[in-house]
Amino acid sequence: GGDQPLAGKKVVVTAGGTREAIDPVRFIGNRSSGKMGYAVAASLQQLGAEVTLISGPTRLEAPNHVSVISVTTTEELRDQVVQTFKSADGLVMAAAVADFKPAKVADHKIKKTTDNDHMVLELVKTADILKAVATVKQANQVTVGFAAETNDLLENANKKLQSKQLDLLIANDVSQPGVGFNGDTNQVTFLQPNQPPVKTPLMAKTAIADLIGEKVVELLTKKEG
Ligand code: PMT
Repeated sequence: GGDQPLAGKKVVVTAGGTREAIDPVRFIGNRSSGKMGYAVAASLQQLGAEVTLISGPTRLEAPNHVSVISVTTTEELRDQVVQTFKSADGLVMAAAVADFKPAKVADHKIKKTTDNDHMVLELVKTADILKAVATVKQANQVTVGFAAETNDLLENANKKLQSKQLDLLIANDVSQPGVGFNGDTNQVTFLQPNQPPVKTPLMAKTAIADLIGEKVVELLTKKEG
């Protein structure tokens, strides 16, 4: 209770973007800075939780009293999430995870030659981490996902809420200025099963993270019964 309502609770947070190798010097990545996930980790720690932050490559410093596990690829992220989730009360997936990766990684740096003006890179689907988590999730565990959308925000986000069996999904329309990747602000919509969507104003990511922290407290309290 009090100002440490998450004392004794273990929460796993993911942040940053995954990278999938094309060859020894190139990768497919995305614009995630890690700011949103690091802010969530800091808020949950402030609320008293024992926080493990699983992070893709970022320029950020670890928040105080948060243990950080560094990963690069989607597969590494999945392995760490599956392992740490077993003993956790909650999971917040703010990481921007690659949906596809090169079918094979070239052994040597791919060269340009006079006869390869076009090149085709074959991609294969990566594992969906939250879907894997849904299959092992216990009734007392809380899972929170994000949805980064550029169109049909509510429709796409509601599909993710259901297919990933989440307690809470935080949808951001990343086509809007100041929203989503890389900046210090965000504007999100909270979606929960059988509840109307709740839209926040454009706010600092740290303020959004505090709102997410409050929600996690509420969801974990509800599950304790
Ligand atoms: O890091 P910042 O620069 O601060 O930017 C913040 C952010 C835009 C990255 C963040 O707010 C955000 O939206 N994170 C989720 C990005 C994403 O991968 O969204 P998605 O809609 O593609 O995926 C939906 C959910 O499934 C996410 O929780 C994602 O972590 C998860 N996922 C996605 C793919 C996959 N293979 N496995 C997953 O578990």
